[in-house]
Amino acid sequence: MSIEPENTGETGTERYLDSALRPTRWDEYIGQEHIKQNLQILLAAAKERSHPPEHLLFYGPPGLGKTTLAHLIAKETGSQMKASSGPAIEKVGDLASILTNLSAGDILFIDEAHRLNKMIEEILYPAMESGMLNIIIGKGPGARTIQIDLPPFTLIAATTRIALLSAPLRSRFGGGTFRLEFYTEEEIARIIRRSATLLQMDPQEEALMEIAHRSRLTPRIANQYLKRVRDYVQVKKVPISQKTVVEALSLLEIDEIGLSAVDRKILSCIIETFHGGPVGLSTIASALSEEEATIEDVYEPYLMRLGLITRTPRGRVATERAYEHLGHDIPKEAQGTLL
Ligand code: ADE
Repeated sequence: MSIEPENTGETGTERYLDSALRPTRWDEYIGQEHIKQNLQILLAAAKERSHPPEHLLFYGPPGLGKTTLAHLIAKETGSQMKASSGPAIEKVGDLASILTNLSAGDILFIDEAHRLNKMIEEILYPAMESGMLNIIIGKGPGARTIQIDLPPFTLIAATTRIALLSAPLRSRFGGGTFRLEFYTEEEIARIIRRSATLLQMDPQEEALMEIAHRSRLTPRIANQYLKRVRDYVQVKKVPISQKTVVEALSLLEIDEIGLSAVDRKILSCIIETFHGGPVGLSTIASALSEEEATIEDVYEPYLMRLGLITRTPRGRVATERAYEHLGHDIPKEAQGTLL
């Protein structure tokens, strides 16, 4: 498969809702101020030189707006965006077909770039650097390389795992490598205030703050919760208040600091099964029947951000705050030694 519709994890109407909630102008894109300022300069300079912006790499935990930024750049530069992802580009032919179908000035967005295989990466280097597509036809002594000139384009790659990108690939993002950070609660509240207006909801301010507080400081999650709250109040025929937000999110097993059932399972696994750690990621993953990568990409960043776990060279360790949150006493032998 080559170019695929972007995978938002949702289908039908909900999918359209997600794209409807995306900011379409810089002034609607909230937070990530230093990235925004850098990109605005980069885009303005490229426009003055009538040249597509240089290639960009965005990384950071899922849901913080990497894809949203790529869409916004396409809108702001009046370019077409073609989207694909690391696992979708399996064969050299897949990438060749994507690249040869680009028009001048297009943005090629590749999500999950850490999942591109080595062969694909090697085709990508010259394409990024000098706009050349080198394809080897045939095998053995009769093999020959054909070179195709590509139209000027901008690659925007996104990844949750920058360490897994090869150094040569990382070094080819001339426009810059940007790390997206968690948002503040106030920024999340601003994002969902706008979403609520688009969804024709009229929530009380306290209701928005409650969603923001439980949203893992992540716009995608905040917007998902807003939609679930909308379902809840519609079905229960109640107003959107702080109380109904608490009811709706508690039903989804989201607790008062935004932890999900899986987050709490990770903490109780470290505390109860492995006596607070240190315990290796692979051990936690097999104890919970979860993928290591899912724990590392999806759950751990927020648990670390809240100071509930720390990483040590010998594995993950639960902090005092994690014991307190789960209502466990700190074992005598660990007292005074935990962070
Ligand atoms: N949706 C996702 N990220 C956003 C952001 N930073 N601002 C507004 N809406 C968003």
